[in-house]
Amino acid sequence: MADSIQVHAVRADSVQRDPVKRDASRRGANRRGPGAAPAVNAPALRVQDLGKRVALPGQELTILDGVGFEIARGDTVAIVGASGSGKSTLLSLMAGLDSPSSGSVALDGEPLSALDEDGRARVRGEKVGFVFQSFQLLPSLTALENVMLPLELRGDREVEGPAKAILDKVGLGQRLGHYPRQLSGGEQQRVALARAFVTRPSLLFADEPTGNLDTHTGQAIIELLFELNADAGTTLVLVTHDEHLAQRCGRMLRLDSGRLVP
Ligand SMILES: Nc1ncnc2c1ncn2[C@@H]1O[C@H](COP(=O)(O)OP(=O)(O)OP(=O)(O)O)[C@@H](O)[C@H]1O
Ligand SMILES: [Mg+2]
Repeated sequence: MADSIQVHAVRADSVQRDPVKRDASRRGANRRGPGAAPAVNAPALRVQDLGKRVALPGQELTILDGVGFEIARGDTVAIVGASGSGKSTLLSLMAGLDSPSSGSVALDGEPLSALDEDGRARVRGEKVGFVFQSFQLLPSLTALENVMLPLELRGDREVEGPAKAILDKVGLGQRLGHYPRQLSGGEQQRVALARAFVTRPSLLFADEPTGNLDTHTGQAIIELLFELNADAGTTLVLVTHDEHLAQRCGRMLRLDSGRLVP
């Protein structure tokens, strides 16, 4: 859902540039309200009877219908399906970037519907990394600044070192000062991956993470994703058309016209 994603990206930018909002966001990031602690036995992700409908002139379009599944911690899951089957929409709903028309999503046992926008932003900051299909890098920030941003938003003191290290790891150590418009599509994709990894999230959502990469670079990114899963126990949820990547995952979920194929 491109609209909500755009809003999210712009908001992140304005938060970074406004010290008052930025402090508020830091407080938000550190606050642990009631229900913030993960339920001990809860799955990393529980999706129940999820539906997404949008009103178009003269008709209602159903994008997702009755989608339900659970993902255990440390699992690796590929979401596959034809173009337009609802994969990106499902990913946005799971990460709390968009609201469902019906049904629910819970991360670590915490229902996203019980949280307001600040609460969802807190949960995302604490545990979620997201790689957008269209990257959503902030155009006014360099590659390094884009990757430092999530660390700044959560109030880390040490931001430059870890951001440089991860950019080095994705092969962009020589492109730190480049703005997104000065990077190729594959390079932008790698900056987006670095931005999602840098906080070492417990849950990583990636929409076509190898979609714009040549075979060699794509393979290196796949290795990096699974290294993160093996070393840090990161739960991976990947949308992909790449058979090789889908096969590497422990599980595959297939969407067909907004419904999960049994
Ligand atoms: N805001 C919106 N308003 C109207 N229709 C929408 C909106 N967002 C998505 N859609 C429609 O919902 C369907 C699913 O979109 P989605 O982006 O989730 O597909 P996808 O499976 O990720 O496809 P692709 O593989 O091409 O990326 C598409 O037919 C799309 O046109
Ligand atoms: Mg998509």
